[in-house]
Amino acid sequence: MRVLLTGGAGYIGSHTALCLLNAGYEVVALDNLSNASPEALRRVEELTGKKAPLIVGDCADEKTLTAVFEEYKIDAVIHFAGLKAVGESVRKPLDYYQNNLDATMALCRVMPKFNCSILVFSSSATVYGTYPEMPLREDCPTGCTNPYGWTKWISERILTDVAAADETRSFVLLRYFNPIGAHESGRIGEDPTGIPNNLMPYICQVASGKLDHLNVFGDDYPTRDGTGERDYIHVMDLAEGHLAALKYAESHHGAEVFNLGTGEAYSVLDIVHAFEKANDLTIPYQVTPRRPGDIAVCYADPEKAANGLKWRAKRDLTTMCRDAWNWQKNNPKGYEK
Ligand code: NAD
Ligand code: UD1
Repeated sequence: MRVLLTGGAGYIGSHTALCLLNAGYEVVALDNLSNASPEALRRVEELTGKKAPLIVGDCADEKTLTAVFEEYKIDAVIHFAGLKAVGESVRKPLDYYQNNLDATMALCRVMPKFNCSILVFSSSATVYGTYPEMPLREDCPTGCTNPYGWTKWISERILTDVAAADETRSFVLLRYFNPIGAHESGRIGEDPTGIPNNLMPYICQVASGKLDHLNVFGDDYPTRDGTGERDYIHVMDLAEGHLAALKYAESHHGAEVFNLGTGEAYSVLDIVHAFEKANDLTIPYQVTPRRPGDIAVCYADPEKAANGLKWRAKRDLTTMCRDAWNWQKNNPKGYEK
């Protein structure tokens, strides 16, 4: 089976490419390299001993997509491609709506011309917005607080409607919680541009001395220690969730949503202390005011994925912290793009 990974050179895409190749799938990646380096897939080839051709191009462009489908017989698509910085999406909403929605629609138009019916989509827990009751189940009310989130929400809507109109389609919509960590080899990992927005890459850069200290965004939330709690999931567990989703899609039709999370909530200080312990390091931090738009707690109910996809996250927080640091320490400049 050959799988097209849009955004396949990115953080989650490259880890999923590795899992797919190791499981015997063929992989083709389409990435415009707006937030990635071709070096990631070169290293995936090095780790697996298998080829993962990269086409550099825009997956929102139907001509480019058509050319890829003409060159390769594609059996399924995993659609990772998208812009993902929340703050930037508030400043440049049109860029986000155009890139993220056009890409989803272009795939929906081109795939049936080549009898390709299976699509796995990267959605996000951000579609649960500020819904306060935890754990979050797939049938909880949704709604977003920023343009990035709305692009995920609207893409889910588009895919659900397209699947309802054409019964041959098989779409799996995966709501990721907070992916962190890296492949255990330390050869591939997350390579953010500039100062990281997200917690784990920020901690890694403090550990490496690139940044002076961590700012803990608020310690007055109604949580165990006052800092925000999230459902952190190892990127390799997440990648394996995509294999499970592909298998599910082969025997189901329609559009189905699944959370990919662990069901465990850890606070910012839990993460700091776990990172220190796993790597025998000290992470200096200071508490600052809350980050606007942040919520107190967010974690998944992982049971639908356990039952439907036969998948559960396996790796613990110590492993996540160790693998994140192993990547950072071995690649202080990332892929040097
Ligand atoms: P990433 O930025 O590393 O990967 C996305 C990739 O898509 C990049 O390689 C980028 O170059 C590429 N891309 C963007 N627009 C494109 C286009 N029009 N055509 C071709 N390539 C394009 O991000 P990631 O963390 O690997 O995330 C993958 C997907 O998962 C994204 O859709 C993201 O929104 C979603 N997601 C990520 C997280 C997270 O915390 N990392 C959480 C929830 C959902
Ligand atoms: C972010 C995105 C969200 C996306 C999710 C998944 C924002 C506002 N939201 O959510 O859309 O779906 O990633 O990856 O970017 N924190 C600090 N100091 C830091 C960074 C973070 O204290 O320097 C805290 C935050 O307040 C939060 C926790 O760490 O409590 C996790 O933050 P982060 O990694 O940015 O993820 P989310 O906010 O969950």
